[in-house]
Order: sequence, then structure tokens, then C-alpha cells
Amino acid sequence: MPIKKVKEDIYWVGTIDWDRRLFDELIPLPDGTSYNSYLIKNQDEALLIDTVDPSKKDEFFQNIKEAKIKKIKYIIAQHAEQDHSGCIPDVLREYPDCKIITNQKCKELLTDELLLKQENFYEIKDEEIFHFGDKTFQFLFSPWVHWPETFLTYLPETKILFTCDFFGSHLATSELWADSKKTYLYRAAKRYYAEIMMPFRQVIKKHLEKLKGLSIDIIAPSHGPIYRNPEYILSAYQEWVSDQVKEEVVIPYISMHGCTQKMVLYLMEQLMKKNIKVTPYHLIYSDVGELAMALVDAATIILASPTVLTGPHPQIVYAAYLCKILKPKARFAGIIGSFGWGSKMEQDLLQMLSNLNVELLPSVIVKSYPTKDDFLKLGQLAEKIASSHAKLKE
Ligand SMILES: Cc1cc2nc3c(=O)[nH]c(=O)nc-3n(C[C@H](O)[C@H](O)[C@H](O)COP(=O)(O)O)c2cc1C
Ligand SMILES: [Fe+2]
Ligand SMILES: [Fe+2]
Repeated sequence: MPIKKVKEDIYWVGTIDWDRRLFDELIPLPDGTSYNSYLIKNQDEALLIDTVDPSKKDEFFQNIKEAKIKKIKYIIAQHAEQDHSGCIPDVLREYPDCKIITNQKCKELLTDELLLKQENFYEIKDEEIFHFGDKTFQFLFSPWVHWPETFLTYLPETKILFTCDFFGSHLATSELWADSKKTYLYRAAKRYYAEIMMPFRQVIKKHLEKLKGLSIDIIAPSHGPIYRNPEYILSAYQEWVSDQVKEEVVIPYISMHGCTQKMVLYLMEQLMKKNIKVTPYHLIYSDVGELAMALVDAATIILASPTVLTGPHPQIVYAAYLCKILKPKARFAGIIGSFGWGSKMEQDLLQMLSNLNVELLPSVIVKSYPTKDDFLKLGQLAEKIASSHAKLKE
């Protein structure tokens, strides 16, 4: 890929991973991703902001060659995760005098991870100012977006904020600039927030507050396109991290022989009659990223599972565990499902949801196929969801 000019003497030298479909062996990437590295030129010397995933090393060095510089003097390492730091050892091999500019925590992680030496580093403090050529770099520590060492880099002259994973999106595209009219961009950014940032919602709120004091023209993350209209992504984040929920119900479910499925379909029908938005996520056929995205706004989560060897189906255990670790802002949760002869599925799931700050709705657990009485209970559950949602508006 050709390198791309962002501003005078500032170039995108990243790589695009069109075919990657899984991140951290966990997160689905339906749209691929990119690893954005930025090169800042000062005559024939350069400074890099982050590198790229080691799998893209050759392409990355080709890009550096294209920038026609004699040496790389510094690398600002904003995050220790390998998709951004993985090529640092290769850069040091090529340019042995190069120093890694980073904070104490990132230095510790990089030293352990990449077996680097103390003399490779130039350690910075929060809000420290650094100069390279005619450019000023201000470092803004922003722990937990999404590791403890992360920080942002602000260039006051050009008003660019480099944010690494913060405001990123897993989206492979040949376009450098984000086009906010494209709905797929919004979805990619939201999916990224849901899968990676949502557990840190409370701390992100504080970071967003601090950014209000900065005059920002460009937000340049290390995944996906760059924002020339930062308000677009900033306001999306404001909405996602807010405590406001949408009157939506998400139902992660599994059914082996159709009993739980019948319950899910009936509950959905009742909710739809009340004009409540509801989405089922069959855990074999849906991508968990879609479920994570729905959890960004939904007011209510209903887990629906049959009983397998006394407990919930393992796929539902996975979904419940995701809910537990992603910490969505849902206000209500409930459990429905089926058993044949004896079950502690409900208790197991309740325990898994215990860290969520939700009001529990009455469970509906039925023996085998739901009867008339069971459908009545599901109807009552739909009523309860409707009245709970109505309370949110008060
Ligand atoms: C592999 C397997 C294990 C099961 N283990 C239990 C169990 O331990 N306790 C129980 O009450 N029912 C158990 N069942 C029965 C199902 O929970 C029951 O048939 C239920 O109605 C199935 O719901 P579904 O049609 O939504 O899959 C098991 C069924 C299967 C296929
Ligand atoms: Fe990361
Ligand atoms: Fe990343």
C-alpha cells in the first residue's frame, strides 16, 4: 500500500489486514482491520507513532523505505499490545540508536513482552511535552483504553490527537479518512467500542471529559479510518458511555429440541405487540460481536437456555460470561428456559449475572415444552418488561 499524507510532514505508514477474521482469537472481524502507524518527518529523520502487527512487518518496512528518511530517531509507543508494538524490535535492529518514548507502565510491559533493554527507552510523565523538529508532542495518559499503560499524543500545532485503540474501528478500507455518511463506519466503530472499550465505560467517561479542554481537528486512531470531523466519533462515544439505555430487549439463546426456542418466539411476539424492540441472538448462528453491539444500548437482557447436564447450555454460559465481563449498562435481566427432569440452570445463570447492576425480572423455567400456563407466564414477563421500560422515562 502507498503511504499517505495526513498533514505536512505527517504520514500514515500503516498496513491493512483485509483477510483477518479474528482478533485475540476471540473477537470476530467481519470487515478486517488496519494497523495505523504514523511517521513524522524532520528533514531526513523520523519519529514513529506506534508500529504495526508483526505479521505485516515486511509491508511496514516497505512503507518506511517509501518515506525516504535516513533514520528513525524515536518511536512513541502508546500501547504495549503487539498489534501496535510488535515491530518495535525490528525497528530497533534497523536503527539501533532509536529510542522508545513511553510511560513507565508501558516500558515495563514492553520490556517483559519484547525483551527490550532499559537503555532503549525514554520515559515520559503525564502531560509531558516533547519536541521533534518544529512539532510539539503532548502526552496525555489515558489508562484503561483498554490496558493500564495507554496514553494519547496531542500535536497542538496541527491539532491532531493520536489515540491508538481509543476511537478505533476494525475496518479494512483503502480510504484514509472516515466518511461519516457511511453507516458501515458507525457500525464498525460501535462494534469496536462494544467488544473492547465497553468494560471501561466509567473511566472512558472521564477521559472524554478531559478531551473537552483540547482543540481537536483530527482524531487519528491506530485501527480504521482517521476522523477529520472528530465531533462525529466523540458524540458517538458520549452516547455509548452515557447511562441512558434504549428500550430494547436482547435475547441470547440456544435450543436443542425447540422448547426454549418456542418460549423465545412467544416472548418476542408479546414484546413486539407492545412495540418493544427485541432481537434474538442464536448463539450458534450469530456473531458474538453483534450481540456485544446490542448490549451497548439495550435496557433488558433475557438469557434463554435449555438444561444440559443440570446446568445451562455451555453456549449460554459463554454469553452470560460475556455479559459479566463486558459490563453493559442494561437495567433489567431475566432468565427463561426449559428442563426435562431436574435443573439448576436458573441458579447458575443468576450467579453469573450477579456482578451486573440490574433489577432481576421473574424467571420462567418450564418442564419440556411450554404449556398454556407457561405462555401465560411469558406474557406476564412481557408486561413486566414493558412496565419496567416505562419506569425508565419517569
Ligand atoms: C445433552 C442433554 C443433556 C440434558 N441434561 C439435562 C439435565 O441435566 N437436567 C434436565 O432437567 N434436563 C436435561 N436435558 C433435557 C433438556 O433440558 C430438555 O429436554 C429441554 O426441554 C430441552 O430444551 P430445548 O428443546 O430448548 O433444547 C438434557 C438434554 C440433552 C440433549
Ligand atoms: Fe489494544
Ligand atoms: Fe489495537
